[in-house]
Amino acid sequence: MKYKTSLLAFALLPVLLGGSLVSRGALDNRLALTPPMGWNSWNHFACNVSDSLIRQTADAMASSGMRDAGYRYVVIDDCWQVSRDGRGRIVADPVRFPHGIKALADYIHSKGLKFGIYTDAGTKTCQGRPGSYGYEEQDARTYAAWGVDYVKEDWCNASGLDAPKQYAKFRDALARSGRPIVFSICEWGSNQPWEWAPKVGNLWRTTDDIEDKWASMLANLDQSGQHPTAAKPGAWNDPDMLEIGNGGGMTDDEYRAHLSLWAIVAAPLIAGNDVRTMSAATKAVLLNPEVLAVDQDSLGAQGILVWEPVPELQVWAKPLRDGSRAVALLNRSSKPDTITAYFSRSGIHTDSARVRDLWSHSDVGRFKGKYSVLVRPHAAVMVRLTPI
Ligand code: GLA
Repeated sequence: MKYKTSLLAFALLPVLLGGSLVSRGALDNRLALTPPMGWNSWNHFACNVSDSLIRQTADAMASSGMRDAGYRYVVIDDCWQVSRDGRGRIVADPVRFPHGIKALADYIHSKGLKFGIYTDAGTKTCQGRPGSYGYEEQDARTYAAWGVDYVKEDWCNASGLDAPKQYAKFRDALARSGRPIVFSICEWGSNQPWEWAPKVGNLWRTTDDIEDKWASMLANLDQSGQHPTAAKPGAWNDPDMLEIGNGGGMTDDEYRAHLSLWAIVAAPLIAGNDVRTMSAATKAVLLNPEVLAVDQDSLGAQGILVWEPVPELQVWAKPLRDGSRAVALLNRSSKPDTITAYFSRSGIHTDSARVRDLWSHSDVGRFKGKYSVLVRPHAAVMVRLTPI
């Protein structure tokens, strides 16, 4: 009898705690211990997704070296779904996905990649397709049966709903599905997700949708940069997907700065270009191993803006596991200028440090107290400072 009572109390615990599923504690799915890396269809293809596009993309990710550089998740964004059947099961577009989603997931897995899919917490997705509201358990079970490894849940058509509660519902449904699935929260920073999302998802958007423009990239950086203490292994601020090589809306210098800064703020690196046709220049940016290593550093600290002596000339720094610091010297202005990273401001407390340039892949030398460099307009120099 006593046993039964304590079981009952345990079952009622969420209710006793005020009914909030969120109060159950931190998300502990042991996934995304470093920021997730992959590709998503939205930035380049919007609703123009299909089985053949996703298969060709998976092929290109394997053959281009993207997969081996760490870009593992291939994610179909909005528009893959068209309706629900008589039993409420979500139905993929039969014309665009004639073999069904499970077969596509199997193909992606056969390439050594992982598979992600998109839904929405509301009644409909942003493009008017069926959302998961009221179908959370069923959708999570369906995705798990298909072999889904990553779910992005959007926030359109959700007015009147409580974001922490709705996202916790999907988190719990995913947990009950029995499959390890990375959970990507996409409510654009509209409900202070940095306060609750670390317990609910592996990553959470902090901003509106990014565009292939310098100003948009910087605006998202600035917004996401305000919540560094929320980030930790398994839980990341997400300033949105990469625009590198997407539509040519930025110069190569600007794209290099984009990757450098996303790495400094430990952002998920989800490519958004057409990887089947990417140029050598785009590939060189996306595959820079030294910058990717900064993003993927196992310490999992989000870097911060440490110094802006003059408006538009900034120094961003991120502590790394081995005691070194990654530093981005960012020139947001439209003329070349010298930027100085003072070691003490960047978290280096020895007199001297070794400086390695992560874009030229060269050791620049030993420096005392500071490192100054001429930075082109709309560009970043990225270095690693190792204390001596
Ligand atoms: C929202 C999201 C985007 C994308 C689209 C799809 O705008 O923020 O990332 O998923 O919806 O409709």
